[in-house]
Amino acid sequence: MRPLLIAPSILAADFARLGEEVRAIDEAGADLIHIDVMDGHFVPNISFGTPVMYGVRGLTKKPFDVHLMIAPADPYLESFARAGADIITVHAEAGPHLDRTLQAIRAMGKKAGVSLNPATPPSVLKHVLDRLDLILVMSVNPGFGGQSFIPAMLEKIAEIRGIVGGRNIDIEVDGGVSQHNAGDIVRAGANVLVAGSAIFKAKDYAAEIKAIRAAATSVMA
Ligand code: DX5
Ligand code: ZN
Repeated sequence: MRPLLIAPSILAADFARLGEEVRAIDEAGADLIHIDVMDGHFVPNISFGTPVMYGVRGLTKKPFDVHLMIAPADPYLESFARAGADIITVHAEAGPHLDRTLQAIRAMGKKAGVSLNPATPPSVLKHVLDRLDLILVMSVNPGFGGQSFIPAMLEKIAEIRGIVGGRNIDIEVDGGVSQHNAGDIVRAGANVLVAGSAIFKAKDYAAEIKAIRAAATSVMA
C-alpha cells in the first residue's frame, strides 16, 4: 500500500488571510497543498492562478499539488511549473492530446497527473499509464467546494485501483471528502485525500487532519 497523503484544498481557505492559512495547514500536518485552478470555461467558476501561487510558494516547503480545471491547459503548463507546482494534474476531458500534455509536464521535471470527472470512464487511463504519477478521481462535479461526495465513485476508485496494479501511481480523491468517508475511500483503493471544507471549516485544522488520517489508516492493511 502506498503512503497515505492528506491534501487540504486552499480553495476553502480565507483568502483575506491566505498566507496565514497556508502556514496553518502546513503546521497542522498537511502532506500536500492542493491548489484548485478554475477558468470559468472548463468549469463554471473562476478561482485563481499563478500570481496567487507565487505569493504563497515561499511560505511552505510542502509540495504544491496543482489541479488544473482549465481548457486548454497546454499553453499554461510552463507558467504553473515556474510558479512552484510539484504535481500538475490536467483533466482528461480538457484537451484532445492527453498523452502529449502528460509528456510535456514530465519534460519540465514535474509529476504528471490526470483527473477524471465523475462521468468519465477509467478506460481513458489505459493507454497513458506509463506517463502518469497520479490519477485524481473527482468525487463531485468540479467547480465548487462544499459539495457532497458521489457514492458511485467508490466503485470507480476500486476499478482504477485494479487498472493501476503495482505501478508507481498515486490515486487521489477530490470532493466531499471528510473523516466520515475517508475509510471507505481508502478501502476502495485511494491513497491521497483532498479535503477543502472539512479542514478549513474546522476550528482546529490539526485535529481535523488527524481525524481524517485516523479514519483512513484504520482500514489500511
Ligand atoms: C472542486 C475542487 C476541490 C474542492 C474540494 O472542483 O477540485 O478540490 O476544493 O472541496 P471540498 O472538500 O469542500 O469538497
Ligand atoms: Zn481539486
